[in-house]
Amino acid sequence: YVIGVDLGTSAVKTLLVARDGTVAAEASREYPLYHDKSGWSEQDPEDWVKGTIDALQALVRESGADPADIEGLSFSGQMHGLVLLDADNRPVRRAILWNDTRTTEQCREIERTLGDRLLKVTRNPALEGFTLPKLLWVRQQEPESYAKARCFVLPKDYLRFRLNGQIRMDLSDAAGTLLLDVAGKRWSDEVLRAFELPADLCPPLVEAGAQTGTLTAEAAEATGLSADTRVFAGGADNACGAIGAGILKPGLTLCSIGTSGVVLTHEPDASADYAGKVHFFNHGKEDAFYAMGVTLAAGYSMSWFRNAFAKGESYDTLLAGVDEIAPGSGGLLFTPYLVGERTPHANAAIRASFIGVDGSHTRTHFARAVMEGITFSLNESVDLFRKAGKTVSTIVSIGGGAKNPTWLQMQADIFQADVVSMENEQGPGLGAAMLAATGCGWFPSLDACAEAFVKRAKTYRPDAGRAERYEALFRIYQQVYAQTR
Ligand code: XUL
Repeated sequence: YVIGVDLGTSAVKTLLVARDGTVAAEASREYPLYHDKSGWSEQDPEDWVKGTIDALQALVRESGADPADIEGLSFSGQMHGLVLLDADNRPVRRAILWNDTRTTEQCREIERTLGDRLLKVTRNPALEGFTLPKLLWVRQQEPESYAKARCFVLPKDYLRFRLNGQIRMDLSDAAGTLLLDVAGKRWSDEVLRAFELPADLCPPLVEAGAQTGTLTAEAAEATGLSADTRVFAGGADNACGAIGAGILKPGLTLCSIGTSGVVLTHEPDASADYAGKVHFFNHGKEDAFYAMGVTLAAGYSMSWFRNAFAKGESYDTLLAGVDEIAPGSGGLLFTPYLVGERTPHANAAIRASFIGVDGSHTRTHFARAVMEGITFSLNESVDLFRKAGKTVSTIVSIGGGAKNPTWLQMQADIFQADVVSMENEQGPGLGAAMLAATGCGWFPSLDACAEAFVKRAKTYRPDAGRAERYEALFRIYQQVYAQTR
């Protein structure tokens, strides 16, 4: 067996995966998010460690697997979150997460300082969610924390350190810091110098598939795993989501709806130029890249809606009957800007809206409008890729959006593409397990692992009538941003 650990925003999910790619057991643990101020989003790194140890213990216990048969373990992690460590490798404060938007001022400072070098070197624009603006914010606003900091890591790197005692960062996650020379695959001296940041603040870089030791004796003891279990670096959750869905060759596109939602296309090299309109990061597959548009509140819009209007109900109950309402939700339109937006509108201050509320609408109309609004937002990214000359004809769909057949069909109708669901869909955790399986030598390459592990279930094809209706609605949806900004 191998284990994939997906350190998400709402929970950590662990998967025990057998040699044929089947998931033998899974266990997850939730942890809190702290929103002390509007726009702030933090987590306590200790909660990640505790949740993961609990989940791994349960995984080993409930599966009945012999720990000696669990050969390797790897990670997928929520991206961009800043974990600052002191001289003893203890976090100096809570982690500031990818969906925290307090750093607008620091983003403008980065643009002023780096000018067009920002896009040339880091391949990305300055967005509130990325790591460098968070680092500058802490230096400016909490100098006492910054003074203690010796090194920074990303969420899953901190978790890995607590399990194997080694401080490392993999390239796919480092790409989201704005400190990496993405094409050159090294920390950018130019960016570090421009902000007077010491080079040793950055941890050593490794490939996502690289082995980084084995479990420490304490971690083995705490989890019930063997101390011989090999630990592989792992990657950013979106890179791992792409690996787990087999997005390893040109021509393939992924739609992933977790807390955030992304549309991602494989890039065989760093030559494509999207002028910063989409993110451009290193893949978890060596020497490959991917381009990606991000909807900040995708699954989060649905969980917000449930918490606000149907607390305690299951998603199945909440979404029962949405398929009986026609496309357009009876004139009700939702824009999912609950925490600002990234693609195509990089704007941390915009907020969401329901437009066209009618006396005949029920909660089910609102639930359908939320699904449609999230999907329209993701379609903005599909649209951007098509306008940049990409063919987007087949999209593999994973995450919460792939658990509901009505939503999968809606994706096909709105994206005007074939949408493929996966058998026993497991999200980024499967990609993490594939990094461990390949690292353990089960397969000669990630591609070969994908041949064996990635099993497509069903293809949803767009319906011409609904697609036409949605196209008209999408044009209206696109006008809402300018009207509500
Ligand atoms: C990507 C991003 C999110 C997080 C979610 O840039 O910020 O998708 O990775 O975990």
